Amino acid sequence: MGTLIDGCPAGLRLGVEDVQSELDRRLPPDTTITSARREKDEVQILSGVFEGFTTGAPITLLTLNRDVRSQDYDKLRLIARPGHADFPMRIKYGGFNDLRGGGRASGRLTVPIIVAGAIAKKLLHQIQIQVVAHTVQIHTIRLERSPPTETIRRVAYTNSVRCSDPATADRMAERIRQVKGEGDSVGGVVECIAEGVPAGLGDPFFDSLDADLAKIVFSIPAVKGFEVGLGFGAAEIKGSENNDPYAIREGEVVTLTNNAGGILGGLSSGMPIVVRVGFKPPSSIPKDQQTVNLKEMKDAIVQVTGRHDPCVVPKAVPVVEAVVAIVLADHCLRAQVIPRVIGKKEIG
Ligand SMILES: Cc1cc2nc3c(=O)[nH]c(=O)nc-3n(C[C@H](O)[C@H](O)[C@H](O)COP(=O)(O)O)c2cc1C
Repeated sequence: MGTLIDGCPAGLRLGVEDVQSELDRRLPPDTTITSARREKDEVQILSGVFEGFTTGAPITLLTLNRDVRSQDYDKLRLIARPGHADFPMRIKYGGFNDLRGGGRASGRLTVPIIVAGAIAKKLLHQIQIQVVAHTVQIHTIRLERSPPTETIRRVAYTNSVRCSDPATADRMAERIRQVKGEGDSVGGVVECIAEGVPAGLGDPFFDSLDADLAKIVFSIPAVKGFEVGLGFGAAEIKGSENNDPYAIREGEVVTLTNNAGGILGGLSSGMPIVVRVGFKPPSSIPKDQQTVNLKEMKDAIVQVTGRHDPCVVPKAVPVVEAVVAIVLADHCLRAQVIPRVIGKKEIG
C-alpha cells in the first residue's frame, strides 16, 4: 500500500515509529472478533523526511502486505458477491480491475488512511488539537452515554472492540462471536471527538467543514451513515431544545450544550467536534447467498469463504480518527493556524 502526502509543512519531527504505532492500533488482538488475516503492517518512509524532520517535499510511505492468500478471490472472476463492489467495479473497469483482496474496494485501503492520519495527528498536536474515537454501537448493543474523552483515551484500546466501557465491550464482543458462529456478520457505529479546535475553521459553502468530513468519511469502505452532533436526532426535537445556549466562561464564548457537534454554518464553533459514523455488516459471509454467474448469465448461489471480518468496526475506530485528523489538518493549514514551516534549523 502506497501513501503520498503533499503539502506537509517542513520542520515536523517525524520518525517511522510515529506512523507504525498508529498502524498497530488497526489490529485488535482478539482474532475471535476479527478476520484471521494478521496483516502485520510494517511501514517505511521513502521520501520527504531528512534527519528526523519533514523537508516540505512530498512524503512517500510504503506498507507491504505480508499475509496474503490471493486464491481466496479466484471465484470472483465469475460471480459478484452480494453487498460487495465486484459488479460495479467490473462494469466501470471492463473487468481489468485487480480482484485480489477486493482490489480498490478492499478494507486494506484503510492502511494508507491511517498512515496519512498519523502525520495529520502529529501536525494537530502542534496546536493542541486532540482527536479520539471509540465504538458506541455493535449491532443492537449501544453504549448509552459517552464518557469524558480522557476515559475514552484510557479505556477504548484495553479491549478488542475499542469501546470505552469494559462491560459494554464484553457484550459487544460476545455478539460478534455469536453472529460469526452463525456464519453471519454485524455492523455498528464509531464516535469521534476532536477537542481544542479553534473557532472559524472551514468555509461557509464549498469546502464546509461538515461537507469535507462527510466526503472523506464516506470514502471509508462499508460506511453507510454519518452524523454531526445530534444528527438525525435533531429532526425529532424542537428548536428551543436543539439550540445550544451561549455563555461566557473564563473569558471565552462557549455553548452550554453541544447539539451542533462543534460545527455551525460549515465553520468550527470552538466547541468539540463530535461525529458518528455508521458501518454496515461486511458482506463476506459463509452463508448461502443468492447471486449471479456473470459468464453463464444465470442465477447462482455463493458462499463467501476466506478470512473475512465478521464486523469491521473494531478495525475502523482508528480509521475514523485518522480521517477526521486529515480534514482538520488540511483546514488548519489553509487557515494558517498551522504554519508552513515549523521552527528553524540551526546552521551547521
Ligand atoms: C477495516 C475494514 C475491513 C474490512 N474487511 C472486510 C471483510 O473482511 N470482508 C468484507 O466483505 N468487507 C470488508 N470491508 C468492507 C468492504 O471493503 C466494503 O463493504 C466494500 O468495499 C464495498 O463498499 P461499500 O460497503 O462502502 O459500499 C472492510 C472495511 C473496513 C473499513
